[in-house]
Amino acid sequence: MKLAILSRSLRAYSTQRLRTAAIDRGHQVKVLDTLRFGIDLTGDEPDLHFRGRPLSVYDAVIPRVGASVTYFGTAVVRQFEQMDVYTPNTANGIMNSRDKLRASQILSRHNIAMPATALVRNRDEVRGAIELVGGAPVVLKLLEGTQGIGVILAPTTKVAEAIIETLHGANQQVLIQRFVQESRGRDVRALVVGDRVVASMRRRAQGEEFRSNVHRGGTVEKVDLDPAYEEVAVRSAHIMGLRVAGVDMLEGEHGPLVMEVNSSPGLRGIEAATKLDVAGAIVDYVADQSGFPDIDVRQRLAVSTGYGVAEIAVLAGSELVGRTIAESGLLEMDVQVLTLHRGTRVTPNPGPGKVLEEGDRLLCFGRHEGMRSLIPARSRRPKRVRRLPKQPIHDVPGQAEALVR
Ligand SMILES: Nc1ncnc2c1ncn2[C@@H]1O[C@H](COP(=O)(O)OP(=O)(O)O)[C@@H](O)[C@H]1O
Ligand SMILES: [Mg+2]
Repeated sequence: MKLAILSRSLRAYSTQRLRTAAIDRGHQVKVLDTLRFGIDLTGDEPDLHFRGRPLSVYDAVIPRVGASVTYFGTAVVRQFEQMDVYTPNTANGIMNSRDKLRASQILSRHNIAMPATALVRNRDEVRGAIELVGGAPVVLKLLEGTQGIGVILAPTTKVAEAIIETLHGANQQVLIQRFVQESRGRDVRALVVGDRVVASMRRRAQGEEFRSNVHRGGTVEKVDLDPAYEEVAVRSAHIMGLRVAGVDMLEGEHGPLVMEVNSSPGLRGIEAATKLDVAGAIVDYVADQSGFPDIDVRQRLAVSTGYGVAEIAVLAGSELVGRTIAESGLLEMDVQVLTLHRGTRVTPNPGPGKVLEEGDRLLCFGRHEGMRSLIPARSRRPKRVRRLPKQPIHDVPGQAEALVR
């Protein structure tokens, strides 16, 4: 395999370990500075330049995109994707995981347990939001912090309100999150590679500190994770679009609570704590997968007119409930079922004999016409745009203020 490692720091431990692991396995490998790429959209096909010269052909790329270069870094990764170069972490995956709110929003629709979280912008809503997550003490977080910077434990509602007001005044968004007391000062990190957790560690904060980040003086030790924790870690990484990820979880009363999913997990702490060759596991996985670059299915399949990808929900009272896929009439409508989501389980390529249940969600590819008749009303195509009325703006009797501030 010819492998590129995207990194800004050749000398960083993680970069060096990935490079060495690749060399040890007989691969060709280059560490390329993310900011020295040029994205070339001038020709017939998407292309990349490096240090002003056309880039040679690579089989795979391992992106290590730091928070300070997210925009350009993910643009480079996306360009590799367009060129069919395999990457374990897609540009979308990296972007999704970077912002703590966006990550939580995406995970929340897949039944991944997380600490209760709220975001508000107006001071009048702050108190309600604090109560919503369970009241003080609460954790406040800047959206894009790392290494524990921008994570604060506010002991009282008053202090929380004052901090939030200050941050809003400086135009910073802040997440309000339940303080998971039972996991105070400790969390676990699971390193996901492909479909499994290859290494995991517990981090403990120093003294009075509640943040267990290594950069805040936290100590690490190897831990044998409960299968429930492993499953949640792998699912979270996959939902985000990441095949290499560090998933941070608090140890809640009822099991794992996912805090964040890191797309460029540091390797030093986890390799030291576990004595496992995590870099080697990443390189082996990438080598194994490099023949199958991730393709943006929706983008590719939308190209044939009249066909596309859609999610069909099997609602209560739907005639699909209790029928098999063969009996559903989908195949006759030229619609293929790609995956079936039931609760937290996903069945790829469900067979024709699979019986549908209320609440199932079917990811389908097929004729728009056929699928439209099965998609719940709110996502149907909007009605035709009407003509502008003679009086485009007028008072509605009894409604003094249109915009309630
Ligand atoms: N809701 C919470 N309850 C208890 N401890 C928390 C909570 N959120 C974060 N922490 C602690 O703070 C640390 C940093 O938070 P995290 O969201 O991971 O931010 P960062 O991206 O800066 O690492 C965590 O590792 C954990 O120890
Ligand atoms: Mg963290």
